[in-house]
This record gives sequence, C-alpha cells and structure tokens, in this order.
Amino acid sequence: MGRLAGKVAIITGSASGQGKAEAILFAKEGAKVILADIQKQKVYKVAEDIQKNGGEAIAYFHDISIEEHWSNLIRAICKKYGKVDILINNASTPASHDDLIEEWRRVLNINMIGTFLGMKYVVPVMKEIGGGSIINISSVAGLIAGGVNPYTASKGAIRAISRSAAVEYAKYQIRVNSVYPGMIHTPMTEDLLANEGIRKHFESVTPLPFLGESNDVAYGVLYLASDESRFTTGTELVIDGGWTSH
Ligand SMILES: NC(=O)c1ccc[n+]([C@@H]2O[C@H](COP(=O)([O-])OP(=O)(O)OC[C@H]3O[C@@H](n4cnc5c(N)ncnc54)[C@H](O)[C@@H]3O)[C@@H](O)[C@H]2O)c1
Repeated sequence: MGRLAGKVAIITGSASGQGKAEAILFAKEGAKVILADIQKQKVYKVAEDIQKNGGEAIAYFHDISIEEHWSNLIRAICKKYGKVDILINNASTPASHDDLIEEWRRVLNINMIGTFLGMKYVVPVMKEIGGGSIINISSVAGLIAGGVNPYTASKGAIRAISRSAAVEYAKYQIRVNSVYPGMIHTPMTEDLLANEGIRKHFESVTPLPFLGESNDVAYGVLYLASDESRFTTGTELVIDGGWTSH
C-alpha cells in the first residue's frame, strides 16, 4: 500500500519542476492528485502521463492569485471526492526587479496572497473531515539574504503565515509545515544555472558537492504530506545541501 493511499492532494504549480515531481511521486504513493497550474497544456500533459502509468490525476487551469479559481476548484474536488487531505502550495513566480512597486504587488499577489487563498479554501473542508496536511513552499530566500527583494519578502511571509497557521489550526488536526529548497535544477533556475559564473557561485555556497533535483524536495514534501508526520506541525524543513548551515 502506498504512503498516501486514498488521500486527495492538491498540488499547485504542478506543470513543471518540483510540483510536477511531487504530482508523479504522490500518484505512485496512491494519492488522487489534483494538478493546478496556469500552464494549461503542460499541466494537462502531466496529468495524462500519470494516468497512463496507472495513477489517478486531474488537471485544472488555475491561477493561485484569483480567488474565484480557488472557490471553483474546491467545489469541483468536493463534488468528485468529498474531501481534500493535502494541499501543497508550491506555485510561485520569480521576481525581476528590486524597486518597482508594480513588481512588488505582482509577486506578493501571487506568492503570498496565492498561498493564503489556498489555505483559506481548504481549511474549512479539512475541518469538516477532521484534519489535513498543508505544505507551503518557501525558499532559502525566506531565511537568508541574497534573492530579489519582492521574492524574498514573499517567501519570508510564507514562513511567518505557516507558523501562525500551524498554531491556529492544530486543534482541528490540520498540520501546516513549510519547506525551504536551496538551489534546485528546475525550469525556474535553468537560465540562471546556464551561466557558468552563477552556477559556480551556487555550487560554492552549497556544501554537498552537487545542486538539488526536484525529487530531493519531493521526498521531503511526501513525508510532511503523509501520516508518518502526524506529530509534525509548524516545522521548517530546509532542503538545501547545507547552504544555510554556513
Ligand atoms: N528551483 C529552485 O532552486 C527553488 C529554490 C527555492 C524555492 N523554490 C520554490 O519551489 C517552488 C517550485 O519551483 P520550481 O523551481 O519547481 O519552479 P517552476 O518554474 O518549474 O514551477 C513553478 C510552477 O508554478 C506555476 N505558476 C506560476 N505562477 C502561477 C500562478 N499564478 N498560478 C498557478 N501556477 C503558477 C508555473 O507555471 C510553474 O509550472 C516555488 O515555490 C519556488 O519559489 C525553488
């Protein structure tokens, strides 16, 4: 029996990178996976591939920053499955500018408000079924200096709201944990890592002699999603090859 047998799991940003790896892994572990992403064709293809391999998956075109998308998504899932056990708030956008107010609003609206909206819509459902597991994906940028400011601020906010939500929802047995990836090879970092100087910099700050892959994060997220972590809430799981241990 899989580690997530029978669980219904929403994973945002599952058209690519870590979200995609988590969707594939969760389906292998017996979850019914709901993939949600703004990259419509790509997210449908990931769901289709999971189904071809015998997993259960449905894809939705879903923008995490639009409240109506959340209400429609949760209504559709509850109609089909009657519950949501797991939410992975994984989708996010990188930031391109430190000082532009429009960029601050855009990035915070997706990364911070989008994460809040996910919790807002799944918590009532999880309360009704007697519990659940929410995992919010932050970044080492939420822990230490070095990122583009609006992105860093959004990831710091995810850290703060994860801790307070963990305390607030513990009495309903809804666990809220956050995850802090270091430098991981994904489409988000592809261009960055193609630059030899930048890649060498990240290799030099990472004590392990390699950078991460999506599955390195997905296995940590799997533990937090499963009942194996039933006594774990409010934790901050850093998966960074030792970067922030300096
Ligand atoms: N790759 C890294 O090195 C790294 C490091 C630290 C943290 N992270 C975090 O890990 C998570 C996954 O990132 P990744 O590296 O797999 O990136 P990725 O770009 O491969 O995946 C991000 C996904 O989010 C989707 N997305 C973007 N905006 C969206 C929106 N408004 N609504 C719905 N979906 C949206 C994109 O379409 C994409 O499929 C992100 O939260 C990211 O900030 C990544």
